[in-house]
Amino acid sequence: MSLKDKIHLQQLPRHIAIIMDGNGRWAKEKGQDRLYGHYHGVESVRQIVEGCAELGIGYLTLYAFSTENWDRPEDEVTGLMELLVETIKKEVETLNKNNIRLHVIGDMSMLPEYAKKELQEAIGQTAKNSGMNLVMALSYSSRWEIAQAIKNIASDVKNGSLEPSSISQQTLPKYLCTRNFPDPELMIRTSGEYRISNFLLYQIAYSELYFTNVLWPNFRKEELYKAIADFQNRERRFGKTSEQVKKESN
Ligand code: IPE
Ligand code: IPE
Ligand code: MG
Repeated sequence: MSLKDKIHLQQLPRHIAIIMDGNGRWAKEKGQDRLYGHYHGVESVRQIVEGCAELGIGYLTLYAFSTENWDRPEDEVTGLMELLVETIKKEVETLNKNNIRLHVIGDMSMLPEYAKKELQEAIGQTAKNSGMNLVMALSYSSRWEIAQAIKNIASDVKNGSLEPSSISQQTLPKYLCTRNFPDPELMIRTSGEYRISNFLLYQIAYSELYFTNVLWPNFRKEELYKAIADFQNRERRFGKTSEQVKKESN
């Protein structure tokens, strides 16, 4: 029996975010170079995108490249960037077949011209799809995103379109790259690291966190189902008591 049968389709997380980590260590275990790990990581991306779409997940955000990752050795950065962009380009047909809409979040100004162009094309080609939203976090970091948001808030205050006294908890999310997406309900990190590494810091305030030792190239559909089944066993209290939550769900 697949773990898929254990998943309650009425209680799926609306948005899953994944820190896809461990490609380098996976390659090292096999005596290969890091890029070999990234190539195999792409097959996990395919499977997880397909798995989420099959289940009916609304939003899937994948952390593919952080702003800090620009500081890796040049050959890894170049190889990884080419792999990511090529993969997205190649997958457009499959995305369209599965009604998946692509979005990209991150500091696009850091990307090489060819990458910006290819990404814009892929985003445009899938813009009419109405099924799952696939959000690729590319050259993304939360601190960059929050700094950008504050810059834009300050500029709106200066030009008179935003009143400082009207700023509330609802204001900042409207200035984040994720303004059109709900917050992730489930955040997964692979490879046995217990940290967030500058990913969606604001948005995961109430996400359920799931950490697994499985390295990203080994994270396939069964691992996804395991994470979702685990999520479905959590009691999400949002500050209330367990008794209140139980009463509300009856
Ligand atoms: C995740 O794998 C992919 C990216 C961060 C781009 P890593 O490349 O970080 O793999 P490890 O953590 O070194 O094993
Ligand atoms: C986080 O992984 C970034 C991505 C998965 C894209 P890293 O491998 O860069 O994170 P650290 O350096 O271990 O925190
Ligand atoms: Mg890593």
